[in-house]
Amino acid sequence: MKKFTVILLLFLVTVEITAEFKFAGKITNYKKFDNRIEFTLENAKFNLYVLDRNIIRFRYTQKNDFDPAPSYAVIYEMPEKSDFSFHESNDEFIIATAELTLKIAKNPCRVSIYDKNNNLLNADHKSFGVAFDGDDIRCFKELNANEKFYGLGEKSDGLLKNGKQYTLWNTDFPGYDTRKDELYQSIPFFIGINNYKAYGIFFDNPYKSHFNFGASNNRFYWFGAEKGEMDYYFIYGPDVKRVISDYTKLTGRMELPPKWAIGYQQSRYSYYPESSVRRVAQAFRDRKIPCDVLYLDIHYMEGYRVFTWNKERFPQPEKMLSDLEDMGFKVVPIIDPGVKADPDYFVAKEGLENDLFAKYPDGEYYQGEVWPSWSYFPDFTKEETRKWWGDKLSLLLDQGVDGFWNDMNEPAVWGQNFPDIVLFDDNGFTATHKKIHNVYALSMARSTAEGLKRHSNKRHFILTRAGYSGIQRYAAVWTGDNVANDEHLILACTMSLGMGLSGVPFIGSDVGGFIGEPSDNLYRRWYQLGAFTPFFRGHSAVDTRQREPYNYSEFVEKDVRKAIETRYRLLPFWYNEFYNSSVTGLPIMRAMFVNYQDDANAYSHEAQYQYMLGENLLVAPVLISYDKFKKLYLPDGKWYDWTNNSVVEGGGWIIKEVPLDEILLFVRAGGIIPIQEVVNYVGEKEIDSLRFLIFPAASSEYKFYEDDGVSYEYKNGKYAVTKFILDKKDKNIILTTNKEHKGYESGVKKYEFLFVGVEKPAEVIVNGSMTDEFNFDNNRLSIQTLASDNIKIELKY
Ligand code: GLC
Repeated sequence: MKKFTVILLLFLVTVEITAEFKFAGKITNYKKFDNRIEFTLENAKFNLYVLDRNIIRFRYTQKNDFDPAPSYAVIYEMPEKSDFSFHESNDEFIIATAELTLKIAKNPCRVSIYDKNNNLLNADHKSFGVAFDGDDIRCFKELNANEKFYGLGEKSDGLLKNGKQYTLWNTDFPGYDTRKDELYQSIPFFIGINNYKAYGIFFDNPYKSHFNFGASNNRFYWFGAEKGEMDYYFIYGPDVKRVISDYTKLTGRMELPPKWAIGYQQSRYSYYPESSVRRVAQAFRDRKIPCDVLYLDIHYMEGYRVFTWNKERFPQPEKMLSDLEDMGFKVVPIIDPGVKADPDYFVAKEGLENDLFAKYPDGEYYQGEVWPSWSYFPDFTKEETRKWWGDKLSLLLDQGVDGFWNDMNEPAVWGQNFPDIVLFDDNGFTATHKKIHNVYALSMARSTAEGLKRHSNKRHFILTRAGYSGIQRYAAVWTGDNVANDEHLILACTMSLGMGLSGVPFIGSDVGGFIGEPSDNLYRRWYQLGAFTPFFRGHSAVDTRQREPYNYSEFVEKDVRKAIETRYRLLPFWYNEFYNSSVTGLPIMRAMFVNYQDDANAYSHEAQYQYMLGENLLVAPVLISYDKFKKLYLPDGKWYDWTNNSVVEGGGWIIKEVPLDEILLFVRAGGIIPIQEVVNYVGEKEIDSLRFLIFPAASSEYKFYEDDGVSYEYKNGKYAVTKFILDKKDKNIILTTNKEHKGYESGVKKYEFLFVGVEKPAEVIVNGSMTDEFNFDNNRLSIQTLASDNIKIELKY
């Protein structure tokens, strides 16, 4: 009797579970096409697309047909024909590309992916695989004991994702803490690293999605969403760099921004009236603190109505903007999506007349509450709306603004969500808020970028708070409303690194902390970090003290000016890194393991508090305001310690004292860093000489990119690339430069080559002739030449 009850109970439990979760089941049929296999499963349709030798798309639906609506994220064109072999055996199908072998078990359907040496890279969980629970979809994967997970973009709990679970749902959470899960951005892309080999998974589903990397279970990891398709791309590396780069092949890359956007940017909530803006501008120039951009936060508008000016505060916007332009400032106003529901307001009227706002299923336009009070929300998933909004930007552009700052675009309605029944066009396919929420900001940024492009041939600058995979195509991102405390200084570093791993290179934080007051030291340390993050903007909340560097004591001002000046000195270096990133999709600011994938130390917890800029510069910021020391890891090889001009042997952790006015910088062996003089703003004067800091402890190559910094002419070949080859043989060093592409003439007339960490050579030969026209001092050797196309410098010992 007892036994019978247990069996009955077990039976009931099984029935209940299967009644809730439906598994995809066995393969019942298939059809092969030139670029894919279409499988029919018991409970689903499953298409496997071969995009490339290392990129496979897995797409499952429970419905009769796949969703015809286009992806918001993926811009990669599926090849019509791809190269793969296909075999069927009794119990599995085998699909092989030049790099991968996919085994698809038939009963039940399970995917296992191998490299060419038969190493298992990734597998569906043997018991669960793909499952459905009503609309809810899941993919269960085998959890490998040694596997490390990274990615998911903007997360505030450090880089490593193991043992944790996450939700992606764009959320406005001012003053978020170190374990706030849902934040402004949703990037459903992660990287798995197993025995130093990497793959990536991009789960292209904009609905609220969930990821569990072995949280509260030791059997599997899983990802899924509350609706939509189980549609994911597997990207094999094994190099982390290739995984990130190929992820951005799918979702797009950052465009090369205008050079001024790489300079220092000053913001505040808010600078008004006009006299205040002018005062800030003047103070920067008077105090000679370099600055390129000033921001106008919500108070510039009339009652927070977008595309208007408050005429009392800003009686003559054109005049102000042109005067600021004369002083070398670009101006970026905030534009939130909410359009005040005011029947007399032209933007509301146009939107209603032309049916451009999101609406309820009964046809009434949705209104939500935000800065202007009750507001309509443009439906950016509708082509007409995108065009209309993009054209509206001309109102401000024609008056002289230089870019746009998109905020509250999660979309945020005072910490709440739109009701899920609100409808959007979804590019003609109609969808509810459930699907569009996470791609709202992406669509707004697209509309903005397209509007800017229609307006002029100038490169655009857009800053956004919210986003989804692909946001890097249109906008720079800042990490939202942080707090002026040590935890957030740390987050400014790790969140920026997380975004870089997730395909978004143009990233930074509110320097100084948005909410609250930083101590003097926190303020200093944050500027030092900010000067070494791709997006560098000081910003502060409405109720804080004036936060511009000149509003601090002369000691703090001096140290902060030094940090900003360092940024400007390194502008050619930064610009080059931006260029590289726009071509490769790789982060500019890189977690250590991106460059040092085979080095266990690069994955350690503490290694996330330092990073590489490109290939050559290691940055070790002080992230605890009261610390006077920094512990950091130097990978194998020689490193040039920029702060004290010494050479250090890597391969271990070191602790260094860090004076208050410094940030630790190390140049990798073979590193070449281009440097210019400090200017007050980009374009203040023609830069006629460049210095190349060279640490010739190893042979290397470096490509140096130049163009006009403002237009799209580089796309027509108007750019220059100079290749540097550093050849180290025994002790002798030969540097050759060679102009590989000559489409652009910069004003640079002179080069200085500064070899650091060297001994005095017996002979210095420049372009074949021995010379004694060089300076040698303290292991630094400086040689000046004309900036000709081909230069050869030999240091003989
Ligand atoms: C939000 C933004 C912040 C801005 C403020 C006022 O809090 O994140 O940067 O200053 O709104 O517009």
